[in-house]
Amino acid sequence: MLVLPGRSWAESGGAPAFSTGAPGDATCTACHGGRPNTGSGRIAIQVPGGAETYVPGQKVRLTVLLEDGAARRWGFQLTARSGANPQSAAGTLAAVDGNAQVETAGGLPFATHTSAGTRRGTTGSVSFEVDWTPPAEPGPVTFYAAGNAANGNGSSEGDLIYTTSLALRPATATVTETRVLPQLATGEGASTRIYLVNGGSGESTATVQFYKADGALAGDKVETRVAAKGSAMVEDAGRGSRVDCSAEWLEGEADDRGVRPGGRGFDRKVGAREPG
Ligand code: HEC
Repeated sequence: MLVLPGRSWAESGGAPAFSTGAPGDATCTACHGGRPNTGSGRIAIQVPGGAETYVPGQKVRLTVLLEDGAARRWGFQLTARSGANPQSAAGTLAAVDGNAQVETAGGLPFATHTSAGTRRGTTGSVSFEVDWTPPAEPGPVTFYAAGNAANGNGSSEGDLIYTTSLALRPATATVTETRVLPQLATGEGASTRIYLVNGGSGESTATVQFYKADGALAGDKVETRVAAKGSAMVEDAGRGSRVDCSAEWLEGEADDRGVRPGGRGFDRKVGAREPG
């Protein structure tokens, strides 16, 4: 019989913190023996759509998939670390069902299986779901996970351990709108301006291209960065002098009706959208 004093969890009811295989962490092999990733199965951390990015401020549902043809019982542990410094936390984790539980240890977040989550007798594969909330300061994150594809003998013997990681970076917003302007005001003292408003909490990149009615390019493609909670103005490349409007006039009066009385130009306000 193996007695491990001072543990908050029985191991089949959750792995001890710092077993994820992250830099500085141990893996489950500290007790379960063997070397990680020597079985014929695998572990994977999956995010919806296989995204490589996350939207700052928006929760991400993480799925930890464990596959192994020989396993009869299952466990995992996952952590979220700063991509710049794997010893520091990136955001927080939350359980979404009874298969997983979360813990903070040494300021770092961990999610691990519950006793019910080991799903004794289940063969082939299982998955665990955990919600991740990004940090207030968006930056690159790396998730590390270790999984135990266990034989279900109620001991730490004869189990197969797998490890993996997944890196995500904060998304920059994309403007994916095509807008038909009823009139492209250029020349003769008029011009067209597009306002890009980034309501998100991460910097975004926008590309704006004006076309003429016959489809020909009007002016150069403009690529611009829009700061978080910021805006940018892009003006068409029409000939002639450009309208010099005050910000108040534009904010208050901009509409879709084309050239304004007095030939003072035409403005549109386009909201930048973050991918979701
Ligand atoms: C500190 C030692 C220790 C570490 C580290 C550890 N375990 Fe365990 N584990 C045990 C012991 C002891 C048992 C058997 C007793 C029990 O089931 O609670 C066990 C049993 C299990 C079982 C049930 C196995 C079976 O065949 O019935 C699972 C699943 C499991 N652990 C998952 C994990 C995972 C996943 C990790 C790493 C993320 C891990 N453990 C890390 C000590 C450990």
